[in-house]
Amino acid sequence: MSIAEMIENRTRLAHIEIEGGQNLKGEVIISGAKNAALPIIAGCLLVKGQVTLHNVPNLDDVTTLTGLLSSLGAHVIYYDDGSLLIDCSDVSSHSPSYDFVSRMRASVLVMGPLLARFQKADIPLPGGCKLGPRPIDIHIEGISKLGGNFYGSGDAVSVECDKLVGDTIPLRFPSVGATENIMMAACLAEGTTTIIGAAREPEIIALADFLNGLGAKITGAGAEDISIEGIDSLSSGEFDIIPDRVECGTYLIAGACAQGDIVCRHCEPSHITVILDKLREAGCKIDCSEHDIHLVAPERTKAVDIRTLPYPGFSTDIQPQMMALNAGASGTALMVEKIFEQRFLVKNELIKMGAKIRQVENAALTIGQTKMHGAEVSSTDIRASAALICSALRAEGTTRIYNLEHLFRGYENPVEKLSGLGADVALHK
Ligand code: UD1
Repeated sequence: MSIAEMIENRTRLAHIEIEGGQNLKGEVIISGAKNAALPIIAGCLLVKGQVTLHNVPNLDDVTTLTGLLSSLGAHVIYYDDGSLLIDCSDVSSHSPSYDFVSRMRASVLVMGPLLARFQKADIPLPGGCKLGPRPIDIHIEGISKLGGNFYGSGDAVSVECDKLVGDTIPLRFPSVGATENIMMAACLAEGTTTIIGAAREPEIIALADFLNGLGAKITGAGAEDISIEGIDSLSSGEFDIIPDRVECGTYLIAGACAQGDIVCRHCEPSHITVILDKLREAGCKIDCSEHDIHLVAPERTKAVDIRTLPYPGFSTDIQPQMMALNAGASGTALMVEKIFEQRFLVKNELIKMGAKIRQVENAALTIGQTKMHGAEVSSTDIRASAALICSALRAEGTTRIYNLEHLFRGYENPVEKLSGLGADVALHK
């Protein structure tokens, strides 16, 4: 049975059942960041040697990507302590199969590394969350400037080069994935590449730190312009995956929904300052120490306006959870989605739970309801699953959340972590 079938079988009929009304209390350990782990795992393809990664989250997306690398010839070993050894010395193929790529959009991140290593890459067009059209034109434009020649049909792209040569690459939008793909390809290009208007997410800095630890020469990650001086090869090394800021934000919002008194441990408060500010505005009391965040929620939060933007703005990956919080808060809030046009899909499921939400194009007005109720709902993407859990925690009665495929792509042990905080939650397989 393929990995794709295994994951599908496990999630098709499964649902999570939550009995609302339990206040959350206790501690939750934040896992390594999915969005840092994925590009870093893809980046291992650049190395003819062993890479050991620590604090790797146990997620279906990680399994899919390591499966993809194995299918190309990599040796991958998972250790019980969350470490992962990846040896790409024997990788010989530049053509990942559709079976892996179709499950996850982030598979496109192997394009830059494969091109840099083999001077060619064939990539079936990626799948992943249904967040509206998700083109890869910025990836293609950037890699073309390094010397990649693209051709292909509607359902795959192929790229070849004689050699990659550094250039100045202005991005018309700070795409996270495009910044990562270009950065990885440029590591082994001849000369210097400068990405102008790059994405500034903490995961970009993590990828640069990882690559620099293997010998790359990248400066400026985290700022708008990144410079990459190409070198001949990268060497073996190890790296600790940074904490997952989206998972941390999700548990804080869950706490805010459920009159929580919770502590998120092993997190990085400086990566989510905008979210912490919004939760304070909503009425939560928040104290941070170096790697912990303590949140105490009021009986009912106040609705807060948000507008998603590239980092350091409010993350689109936290917007659905915030919509769940606003749906039961006092007052109305205006939420504007500037990154993914279909990221209000969770709205229809929240409405089944009693929410009042009016949407016009990429703006939604939430009219906070005193009472939300349990319902049978279905998730449409990773963060929508999280939003439905947040809403179910405070709803009266039972909520059953189906289509869990997405949840396990992005959240490690969510049922165990929520139970540990006192939620009445069970997974039915
Ligand atoms: C990454 C994150 C995802 C997050 C998103 C935005 C990973 C694995 N995923 O996704 O969780 O929600 O950043 O913070 O890190 N775009 C184009 N052309 C392109 C590339 C992107 O038009 O070539 C558009 C997209 O359609 C979207 C916007 O740019 O509207 C943002 O996309 P991007 O920053 O590339 O997100 P991802 O890297 O896919």
